[in-house]
Formats: sequence, structure tokens, C-alpha cells
Amino acid sequence: MSEPLSFYDEIGGHAAFVRLVDEFYRGVADDDVLRPMYPEEDLGPARERLTLFLEQYWGGPTTYSDQRGHPRLRMRHASFHVNPDARDRWLLHMRAAVDALELPPLHEATLWNYLQRAAHAMVNTFEPSGIGPASSGRPGLPVTAPPPSASAAD
Ligand code: HEM
Repeated sequence: MSEPLSFYDEIGGHAAFVRLVDEFYRGVADDDVLRPMYPEEDLGPARERLTLFLEQYWGGPTTYSDQRGHPRLRMRHASFHVNPDARDRWLLHMRAAVDALELPPLHEATLWNYLQRAAHAMVNTFEPSGIGPASSGRPGLPVTAPPPSASAAD
């Protein structure tokens, strides 16, 4: 008896994941909030990491962990300012990428459901961009200390 196909195989294997992530990064490249978050000049290495991660997650080759170790995705995102705006932008570009694959409805729903849950789980701040420990020193909104009379002891 042959092995049941993995989701990775079912949706088209490596070519499908490359397409998905290429389409996604096409959107990121033009996004005023997301693009500056990516540390490297060239988005190529980030594209490669996301492709390998998603392939591994869906039952494809385990190259991601062979190269990067345990994913620990929340930890790896801790230094980035992932607020609801960033999440929604991430999902907007991912939605366009999923659409481009033209998957059968059940596969499409399975993939999209996961991506939505994962993106919600990655949010690590509710501060507007530029504020908070993960702002990476980017110029932020002016933050002023409350006047002394506003202390909780009053
Ligand atoms: C919610 C909004 C998100 C934002 C703004 C965001 C942003 C980023 C940024 C700026 C990086 C660094 C680029 C790099 O060096 O690789 C990164 C890495 C990465 N992200 Fe996200 N991300 C988000 C959600 C997600 C989700 C939902 C997943 C998985 C389904 C994911 C998977 C990854 C992976 C695998 C890496 C590379 C980790 C590594 O091995 O270093 N991200 N992300």
C-alpha cells in the first residue's frame, strides 16, 4: 500500500509553495509598514526561510529545521513590531497569494484557516508602529510621561 499524500503533495509540492511565497513577497515589497521591518536589503533570504518553513509544516522536506533548528516562531518574531495593522497587512498579501494558487475549496480553506490562526498568534504588541520594545529604534510617535498628578496614588 502506498503512503497517503501529505497536504504538501496534494497542493502541488515545492512549486506550489514557491509560488505562494513569491506572490506574498510581491505584496510585502510594496507595503510601507511591512517592507521596512525586513532587516535585509534583499527579500530573497526571508522568502527562502518562509518557503522552507511552510513546506515543512505541511509535510514536505524538513530542510527548515535542518538549517534553522526548532521554528520557535513567536520568539523569532519578538524583535519585530507585530501589531494588528502589521498582521492585517501580512494577511492581505497572503490572501492574494493563496488566491493565485487557485486551489480546490477544501485545500484553500485548510491553508487559509491555518495562516489566519498563525498570523493572529504572532501579534506581540497593540501599540501603533514605532512604539514599544520591538520598535527597532524606528522613529516613533512622541511619547510623553503623564503629569505627576495623574499617578495612581492620587
Ligand atoms: C502577522 C504578521 C507577521 C509579520 C509582520 C512578520 C514579519 C516577519 C519578519 C520581519 C521576519 C524577518 C525576516 C527574516 O529574516 O526571515 C519574519 C520571519 C519569519 N516569519 Fe514572519 N511575520 C508575520 C507572521 C508570520 C506567520 C503567520 C508565519 C508562519 C505561518 C511567519 C513565518 C516566518 C518565518 C518562518 C520566518 C523566518 C524565521 C527564521 O527562521 O528566522 N511569519 N517574519
